[in-house]
Amino acid sequence: MASIQPRRITIKGGSSLLLRTALPEDAEAVVAHLRRMSADAPWILRTPEECDFPLEEERRLLNDWLFHESAIALIAERDAEAPGGRPEVKAMAIFMTASRRKIAHTVEVGMGADPDMRGMGIGRVMLEALLDFAVTCPVITKVMLKVYPANVYAHRLYSAVGFVEEARIQRSALETDGTYHDMIQMAMYVKPGIAPEGYPTWPLS
Ligand SMILES: CC(C)(COP(=O)(O)OP(=O)(O)OC[C@H]1O[C@@H](n2cnc3c(N)ncnc32)[C@H](O)[C@@H]1OP(=O)(O)O)[C@@H](O)C(=O)NCCC(=O)NCCS
Repeated sequence: MASIQPRRITIKGGSSLLLRTALPEDAEAVVAHLRRMSADAPWILRTPEECDFPLEEERRLLNDWLFHESAIALIAERDAEAPGGRPEVKAMAIFMTASRRKIAHTVEVGMGADPDMRGMGIGRVMLEALLDFAVTCPVITKVMLKVYPANVYAHRLYSAVGFVEEARIQRSALETDGTYHDMIQMAMYVKPGIAPEGYPTWPLS
């Protein structure tokens, strides 16, 4: 079962958030977060419409993730502002997997934060938590991600955590206005003795 120990994190500015595995009952808060996040995120592979999951589908997805060996969904949650209120999901980071056996050792990162939470370090904490989970997960040896070259902050974050570029995939994304974009593929290994020369292994020494 893919999960992490819940823990409190403090981000720049001093806000405290709860970092934990997303549960099926978080579906409503997750969908609300995805709506806010995707409304101001031109450099993600989903359109805002594709982020607007029907509640039942999101619940099913979160449930599947919970019982998957290597797919995982983490959320960073802000406490309810008033007594009796509901906590708000402010960021989410996931490992997507492929069901085919020959590529089951790889996972791909997806992540996003609410617009009012960006640049405060939450992305870094979540990415490191995903990598720590990958180290403990028996099947994962390689973590990958794809980023638009124009997504400067995200690219900076991934490089700062230690991911290295392994390919530039030409015409990887086709926008709704008909323009093509390349994407940069980055990688990190998470088990010793597997990384090719020049590639990092998490945790970095
Ligand atoms: C990519 C994303 C998840 C990163 O999360 P984050 O919490 O903003 O990331 P961090 O604050 O940990 O790191 C981002 C880096 O960019 C810097 N930054 C400065 N202004 C920023 C801004 N407005 N937005 C994001 N990052 C900013 C941060 O300071 C940090 O650099 P530093 O470590 O040198 O200070 C978030 O910016 C986001 O949701 N973007 C829109 C969705 C998206 O593009 N997802 C990624 C698809 S590949």
